[in-house]
Amino acid sequence: MTDITIDGHRIGVLFSDTEIASRVKAIAIEIAALKPANLLVVPILKGSFVFAADLIRAMHHAGLSPEVDFMILSSYRKSQKSSGQVNVLRDIETDVKGRDVLLIDDILESGRTLAFAKDLLNARGARSTLTAVLLNKPGHLAAHISADFQGFVCPDKFVVGYGMDMAHQFRELPFVGHVIPATGI
Ligand code: IMP
Ligand code: MG
Repeated sequence: MTDITIDGHRIGVLFSDTEIASRVKAIAIEIAALKPANLLVVPILKGSFVFAADLIRAMHHAGLSPEVDFMILSSYRKSQKSSGQVNVLRDIETDVKGRDVLLIDDILESGRTLAFAKDLLNARGARSTLTAVLLNKPGHLAAHISADFQGFVCPDKFVVGYGMDMAHQFRELPFVGHVIPATGI
């Protein structure tokens, strides 16, 4: 697929908007098949906001009517490498006791972010905590976790778009791409 150039950065398309839309729909159908009870969806911001926005609407079409609350966790900060420490920047306001919870994140990489969120909600008494990620980037797992639902296996590249950023840039791209390092000179 063709590359595009934004602000002098070359970006290669990894997953197109139509490929993403069909995976999102399939995941919503898988989730609905589990017939979750009193479902609470918790997108982990910021990177998952576009995926979550599409997934909850696909969940509606699949017959679900979840509540949605948001958590902002930070482990990346401005660098491209995980710091290893997860911070709660914004917590949910909803009581999860006895409820089925679906955590939504953009990428599962070390797994620290999702494992942290899952442990937290389980400790608060969630009945079950399932996880949905758009991308699974294998090879870097540092926590005991796997995603219950995933969109795509992601190559080991730093990716942007569809909500994901590089220093807060490129979230608006409707596809998932990777920034192609400049060569030569
Ligand atoms: P983990 O805690 O190492 O699994 O990291 C997951 C988080 O790191 C994701 O929620 C993303 O926000 C961020 N992340 C990991 N890889 C990338 C990437 O290639 N591009 C943008 N963000 C990433
Ligand atoms: Mg994130």
